[in-house]
Amino acid sequence: MSIFIDSSRLEEIKKYHKMGIIRGVTTNPTIMVKDGVTGGLLGIKEQSIKIAKLIDPLPLSVEVLSNNRDEMIDQAVEFAKWAPNINVKITIHGPNGELDNLEVINILETQHDVRINVTAMMSAQQCYLAACAGASYVSIFCGRVNNMGYNSIEEITKTRKLLDLFNLKSKIIAASTREVLNVSEWLLAGAHIVTVTPKLIEGMIIHPYTKETVQMFLNDAKKLSKLL
Ligand code: G3P
Repeated sequence: MSIFIDSSRLEEIKKYHKMGIIRGVTTNPTIMVKDGVTGGLLGIKEQSIKIAKLIDPLPLSVEVLSNNRDEMIDQAVEFAKWAPNINVKITIHGPNGELDNLEVINILETQHDVRINVTAMMSAQQCYLAACAGASYVSIFCGRVNNMGYNSIEEITKTRKLLDLFNLKSKIIAASTREVLNVSEWLLAGAHIVTVTPKLIEGMIIHPYTKETVQMFLNDAKKLSKLL
């Protein structure tokens, strides 16, 4: 069980990678736009290669930029060539429920040896079918599930039971973190991985009472040194 960082910002990734606390990186087009990645496909390639090299051999997820069947396959094959630790994110279906994606996922995993992270999923049913199609990772957007009024913990637990029961290789990534508390709760519910925003990783580490306690130690350390 581990945490990934949900970011494409090299400095943030470097900061937490150096601490030895992250085990991978996830991105998506929305994160890249927010983080200021520019330059089209070349810009994405350059940034992805920088991240992949920095964290090697840990995995980096990069998402395809299209929902067209052939473009998804071409882009996934290309992205996977950028670095050996890059896996490719593909959504479970298209924006209007288009059904090409599971076939694409199956083709990429079984015929092209590309590791796929199936993304934007909201239910155990979706995760189960993505796992059957051969996905290396199944990403449940738990924060969005909770926002819709459903309990994401139940979806994680059911997904984990199905994967274990049927011996499916997929690892569950619980994504779309909203609160620090999500991380431990989702790991304990059965997620193999939670992908966490940089702000929430900082929130996991820093505690106001720890600050106060450390200050107490430092104040008393000063008094002690005066006695030396
Ligand atoms: O890793 C998926 C994540 O980035 C989606 O998060 O906050 O857009 O629901 P959010």
